[in-house]
Amino acid sequence: MSATILETATATPHRDEGWLEATVCEAVRLASDTLHLRLVSATNEPLPPYAPGAHIALRCGEDLVRHYSLTGPCEHEGLYDLGVKLSTVSTGGARWIFDEVSVGTRLSISVPRNNFPLVEASGGYLFLSGGIGVTPIISMLYSLRARGVRARLIHMCRAREDQAFEHWLTELSSFHDIQLHYDVESGKPDLGAMLGMRQADSLVYCCGPTGMMDELRLYGEREGCADQFHFEYFAPRVRPEEDVDDCEFTVVQKSTGREIPVPNTKTMLAALRDAGVDMKSECEYGVCGWCAVRVLEGTPAHFDSYLTSVEKEANELVLPCVSRCKGQRITLDI
Ligand code: FES
Repeated sequence: MSATILETATATPHRDEGWLEATVCEAVRLASDTLHLRLVSATNEPLPPYAPGAHIALRCGEDLVRHYSLTGPCEHEGLYDLGVKLSTVSTGGARWIFDEVSVGTRLSISVPRNNFPLVEASGGYLFLSGGIGVTPIISMLYSLRARGVRARLIHMCRAREDQAFEHWLTELSSFHDIQLHYDVESGKPDLGAMLGMRQADSLVYCCGPTGMMDELRLYGEREGCADQFHFEYFAPRVRPEEDVDDCEFTVVQKSTGREIPVPNTKTMLAALRDAGVDMKSECEYGVCGWCAVRVLEGTPAHFDSYLTSVEKEANELVLPCVSRCKGQRITLDI
């Protein structure tokens, strides 16, 4: 089965507040395809503090914005550490960083935002990460260590040579229970078995490839414990070609009754903006939830990674940056 990435990235996100100027003070290649960047403020104002799980948006040239988790021990006040992985399905952001960014490069970044906060867990924590998805979890593990709370991490990589951030994981393993899984040595990870070993009331934090996250999300929903799972998606959903059905349809704007056509060449978000509708957005690839609008009539074709399957079935919200319409018309509360 072949697959395509929905190419939805657009210009600067329509969330204009809270942008900062930063300078790269360290740029280190950790694995063949992973770069560790350390940023410092480019002005007299230090970079603001952040909580574990936070991310920043980063402008990658003129037309792209990408999101990167803040990582590391959080002990260097005023510095941000990021991990950037250059994937074979890069939609341009990581490629731009690898080609254009080095020590001294000035970058435009957002203030830290957090869709993946670390909440109190009476039954402990299980962290599951894949590849570069370990970055927000490293910050969480340092934070828990500072509070004397032990946790378990199972980190999955394709092979040992893909393993980045080994220095931090080694340091953390003297306190936390950290298990490393390499696919080429141990085969495909058995996520169900990993989850089966956790305490029933523990919280599960997951960050990794979309396929892994979708499998974990389904497990939580099937076992009736979806509320114990926390996810941070960092990549757009990969849509199988047979799943792509970008037909034309019409959005009815409830507040005015106006009918706005969405051609198959545009996202719903782009069509609404082109028609003059003021729409919020941030990631524009279906992971942040910032563009969500209420559905009043019609049925969305959901292509995001943000809503749970229960929320998708409820038919109440749609993320117009990636999702479309099953049928000819959809009425939105805009
Ligand atoms: S802008 Fe992030 S989900 Fe639509």
